[in-house]
Amino acid sequence: MSVFVEFHGEIAVVTLDNPPVNALGQAVRQGLLDAVNQIAQAPRLSAVVLRGKGGSFCAGADVREFDADPTLPFLPDVLNAIEGSSYPWIAAIDGFALGGGLELALACHYRIAHHGATIGFPEVKLGVIPGAGGTVRLPRLIPADRALAMIAEGDMISAHEAYASGIVSEVVVGDLINAAFNLAEKVCEHALPIPLSQRDPVEAGTPVALKLQKDRIRRRARGQIAPAVAADVLETSISEAADVAFQAERASFLKLKSGAQAAALRHIFFAERASGRIARAKGAKPRPLRHIGVVGGGTMGAGIAVACLLSGLAVTLAERDADALEAGLDRISTELHEAYRRGKLDRDSLQVAQEDLRGTTSFAGFADCDLVIEAVFEDMDAKKQVFAELDLHVRDDAVLATNTSYLDVDEIAAATQTPSRVIGLHFFSPAHIMKLLEVVVSENASAEVLATGLSLGQRLKKTIAASGVCEGFIGNRVMSAYRREADYLIEDGALPEEVDKAMVDFGFPMGIFAMQDLAGLDIAWAMRRRRAAERPEQERYVAIADRLCEAGRLGRKAGKGWYDYTVSKTGTPDPEVTKLIHAESQQKGIHRRSFSSAEIMERLLSAMQTEGLSLVEDGIAASTNVVDVVMVNGYGFPRWRGGPMFMMVRS
Ligand code: NAI
Repeated sequence: MSVFVEFHGEIAVVTLDNPPVNALGQAVRQGLLDAVNQIAQAPRLSAVVLRGKGGSFCAGADVREFDADPTLPFLPDVLNAIEGSSYPWIAAIDGFALGGGLELALACHYRIAHHGATIGFPEVKLGVIPGAGGTVRLPRLIPADRALAMIAEGDMISAHEAYASGIVSEVVVGDLINAAFNLAEKVCEHALPIPLSQRDPVEAGTPVALKLQKDRIRRRARGQIAPAVAADVLETSISEAADVAFQAERASFLKLKSGAQAAALRHIFFAERASGRIARAKGAKPRPLRHIGVVGGGTMGAGIAVACLLSGLAVTLAERDADALEAGLDRISTELHEAYRRGKLDRDSLQVAQEDLRGTTSFAGFADCDLVIEAVFEDMDAKKQVFAELDLHVRDDAVLATNTSYLDVDEIAAATQTPSRVIGLHFFSPAHIMKLLEVVVSENASAEVLATGLSLGQRLKKTIAASGVCEGFIGNRVMSAYRREADYLIEDGALPEEVDKAMVDFGFPMGIFAMQDLAGLDIAWAMRRRRAAERPEQERYVAIADRLCEAGRLGRKAGKGWYDYTVSKTGTPDPEVTKLIHAESQQKGIHRRSFSSAEIMERLLSAMQTEGLSLVEDGIAASTNVVDVVMVNGYGFPRWRGGPMFMMVRS
């Protein structure tokens, strides 16, 4: 049974029982409606407590039903029936109240939450908006600007934030059901509160402020339509009667749900659930993780350390000497304070994190570590030396991981006596913020070691993509391919600012040339020089980036790169670069021609797709879905387009 009703004296307890997260599938909706009817016939009742079984109230709609037409009973009708009950319903929220789950709570007359609960309207992340009264009831409970932020941005909030906003009336530290019973006894003495859908909207900010907020939402959505639709629907909700608002919401929800963007977002949602599966690790038990070692406290090492500390793991950082160690520890400490400033951790947790951080200049300091991640310079000899030495100092059962961007993980593993304990864990910069983690499956890694790598990724709340060993793994291999295509484009007639504009208009946060300036042009330049001898003569080679580097234009940090940063911080196109590009084209006898944004994107996408297919053919990516997950989570590919491979299948 998906919903069951028990009577405790005059209190009815309605329990959602649909593991794992009590999603509102057809059986649950029907069960809730039956419960309303059963309760209506109960002889003596004072209140109803609604709860979820298994530690979570309700995580919303059943996404698997999204591809089909809605089936009866519809959620809005079920919620209206609850709201119209003649007994007060109390939502006792623990775990998650998300999407339809939060709409269910809003249809109840009272809401309390366990202190660990999380609530929110993540619908926009699936390309839709709440479709069962969320946009109608929320702005009748809390101010419209706050409601709009929650709905259009899709961010989750904690029980404490929900209390501060007025969404729940109590945060419970002890037994939630006890607290719900206490509340039931109190409220049954009062008249039933006016249901939210019959109230006036809560006084919001000025129309001008709302307009500014809407503009901001539209800008941030970068082409995704659901957030803008949410803003429009919310405006209707606060300016019209509730029944008009309900209709507007439902119509928009159904239209979005059957649209291309929602299909793309569902694709990536399901792809992410499978992209971290590694057949060889199946059934293996991960080793426990408490203490992580990090070698190298530069950009990546510091970020990785912060990610681990924020997840409650102890970290020991190793650096080459005392000065480098101090600099690395400072970097980590600064980021921890930044996380505190942004409310990502409280004062006590900040203190714990700082106490959990240690530094060493000798690998002997790793004796107690369960897993050590190497993030030293991108140099094979340096990495081999580090691994050979690490192997001698860590526990026999410790896992060793490299964060290399391009190098051969099997070759690195071979520098140890025990290659079966070595894997790749490729983080993205900044490592404590970027969601993606490529887990690189080395040839000899044991199932247990792979399972442990995956478990670290889960602990750090990363989106995991499993990759085989090859140069650049999945992401950097695809990026190298479309960067090469972008180079061809500028030699053939486009300008960097035109390529970047096409990418930004498509939905990327920035274009490939601006991104290179941000990362610095020197590392790729060094790599090209190292490989110059191996480059096949017949291969087309674009030397424009080399010319920039030779002129000292190494990117933002040098004030100039593809763009000029001396005039404005965000960079302006530079006639000098244009001249240089024209000269290179001319030297190769290329007749430059203009490219439309559509042509530019077609060529870049085609390069991504060709490389994506070859990654699957080579057995590096388990499926094209994994390529999409990597591009969306690590390279700024617009999520609402579903990824380059999804676009290929759909076109
Ligand atoms: P970085 O140059 O900022 O930091 C490297 C650090 O390693 C330096 O602090 C250096 O003192 C330390 N180090 C060097 N040899 C050492 C040794 N034997 N023992 C202890 N410490 C040592 O480099 P970054 O950018 O952090 O890159 C590190 C690794 O991460 C490279 O393999 C890179 O390819 C990879 N990576 C870099 C990304 C990025 O965006 N920067 C993204 C993903 C991976």
